[in-house]
Amino acid sequence: MRHCEIAPSILSADFSRLGEEVRAVIAGGADLIHFDVMDNHYVPNLTIGPLVCEALKPITTVPIDVHLMVKPVDRIVPEFAKAGASIISFHFEASEHVDRTIALIHDCGCKAGLVLNPATPLNCLDHVLDKLDLVLIMSVNPGFAGQAFIPEALAKLTHVRSRIDALTRLTGREIRLEVDGGVKVENIASIAKAGADTFVAGSAIFDAADYAETIAAMRAAVAAA
Ligand code: DX5
Ligand code: ZN
Repeated sequence: MRHCEIAPSILSADFSRLGEEVRAVIAGGADLIHFDVMDNHYVPNLTIGPLVCEALKPITTVPIDVHLMVKPVDRIVPEFAKAGASIISFHFEASEHVDRTIALIHDCGCKAGLVLNPATPLNCLDHVLDKLDLVLIMSVNPGFAGQAFIPEALAKLTHVRSRIDALTRLTGREIRLEVDGGVKVENIASIAKAGADTFVAGSAIFDAADYAETIAAMRAAVAAA
């Protein structure tokens, strides 16, 4: 069985107590901290940058999973690497030179992820899948927490899962398949069945009274799927 990872998105945390919130989800069983970076240009919202990543790094005992929703991408990559990111993912449409951006992320010592929007076709993975450490399928349009899961993402996950598995059989290389947007305790089993192994959840975790209980319920639903 695939190892399941739960990645709380701090976009839904209480920003006035961000450090405490990060500690609380890690204590509650988070495998990654999902860090949403929005620039009011590529997406219609503005969030947090490398300074906040750097500030959280010393208290973050799990890898920081940086999701860049910015354009251009390349200039900010080394800054996030220096600020403590473990994984840096970017949107296919936001980079002029996707292969170069992947190489840049690796040169900076991080794992590289490519993000597909709901309408991004899967052929954007052609020629680069074997260089990626992670594929992130967006199940909402990027920009905001708390949106409804777009069911078409399930079919995309299934397709990408079979491509990743075929490549892993051939090369032994592990590539994570992450999903982001509208993931809840109620739908996570069907998302896992479609092939995801890494689950971003913002509002489902941070709006819950008990983070540990919610993360455990998600993990149990995935295990039972
Ligand atoms: C959306 C962000 C997501 C968001 C998920 O653009 O990339 O990570 O925080 O929030 P929920 O889980 O509430 O949909
Ligand atoms: Zn995200």
